[in-house]
Amino acid sequence: MVKIIDAELLRAAPQLVAFVEADALDAQNPAHATWLREKLTRLEQGGAVFFGYFAGGRLAGFASIQVEMRPPEVCGGWGSCELLQIGVEEQSRRQGAGKALLRAIEEYLAPKHIYCLYLHTYARDRRAISFYLKNRFVPAGTVPHVYGPGAEGMLFLVRRLQ
Ligand SMILES: CC(C)(COP(=O)(O)OP(=O)(O)OC[C@H]1O[C@@H](n2cnc3c(N)ncnc32)[C@H](O)[C@@H]1OP(=O)(O)O)[C@@H](O)C(=O)NCCC(=O)NCCS
Repeated sequence: MVKIIDAELLRAAPQLVAFVEADALDAQNPAHATWLREKLTRLEQGGAVFFGYFAGGRLAGFASIQVEMRPPEVCGGWGSCELLQIGVEEQSRRQGAGKALLRAIEEYLAPKHIYCLYLHTYARDRRAISFYLKNRFVPAGTVPHVYGPGAEGMLFLVRRLQ
């Protein structure tokens, strides 16, 4: 079951948020825990909407989005939406939870005048890229240097909703 949740619920599940952000993050590490809390606050203050995936009543995954609506005089009034985060706890992966989160986001966006859903990810993250391709996103370009020297760039993927 997927529903809109408060960021507070994610603050209570820091390891879940850590897994989604980067494998190297450990919510037990005080510096990482602070970084994770600050990141959630930044997203919240930017107007993010959070979706929780529940398995047996337990929060087992989540996603966040940021919607950009525009007045009719700008871009024909078409809005867009960025998928900011999506992740599912390890033991619940590959059972359709990620797809269910995307479906709930799509339903949330359906009545709005939103032209596309887009996101970026690490260009070598095969697992995530496979997931997005399976869910009808298409690669739209890579920005180099974002993750530092020697690393791959940031890959953008997009899916038209209209
Ligand atoms: C990406 C993620 C959200 C997918 O969630 P999920 O619940 O497993 O997704 P679904 O069950 O709906 O879809 C599974 C599909 O995703 C891809 N996938 C998921 N895990 C994978 C893995 N370990 N290796 C390869 N492909 C994988 C495959 O295409 C898979 O389809 P398949 O099982 O038929 O091969 C999940 O793997 C995750 O939380 N990853 C860590 C966080 C992350 O990378 N987030 C995205 C960063 S931008």
